[in-house]
Amino acid sequence: MERTLVLLKPDAVQRGLVGTILSRFEAKGLKLIGMKMQTFPEDLLRKHYDVHKERPFFAGLVEYMGSGPVVALAIEGKDAIAVVRRMVGKTNCREADPGTIRGDFGMSFSNNLVHASDGTDTAAFELGLWFSDAGEVSEWSPNNEPWIYNVAEELA
Ligand code: CMP
Repeated sequence: MERTLVLLKPDAVQRGLVGTILSRFEAKGLKLIGMKMQTFPEDLLRKHYDVHKERPFFAGLVEYMGSGPVVALAIEGKDAIAVVRRMVGKTNCREADPGTIRGDFGMSFSNNLVHASDGTDTAAFELGLWFSDAGEVSEWSPNNEPWIYNVAEELA
């Protein structure tokens, strides 16, 4: 099983899309193992987006991400990083395919509703940053898991 970080950004919260977006991940069969809502501090946002610190949009990005509450999710599943990235869609919502979260609900490049970790190392780094306290992550077994996955092929 793989873990990934998803952020429902301030625009998703302000537009009342938290439940709609969260329900997509649940309906897909991904397991929610952590969830918290806060207006997160600037130092955390700067660390999270450190790879973009030289980009012209960095200051605006940090300001936007700190402009209101964000919902941080820790999500688990087989190949969860790639599965979630596909569900989220291209960064620019106007180019994101219909059926993806950004493609269905967004029109902006910057205010693109959702962030999702883009690889194994990034997911480990980002989960450590946003869910630094082990108590914030719940270990649990959905009782429908044998129906979500094929037990012999995928849960052995
Ligand atoms: P995200 O997937 O969170 O990763 C980096 C974020 O920076 C991205 O979503 C957008 O919100 C933002 N971003 C990326 N490229 C641009 C850009 N060219 N102009 C403005 N914002 C951008």
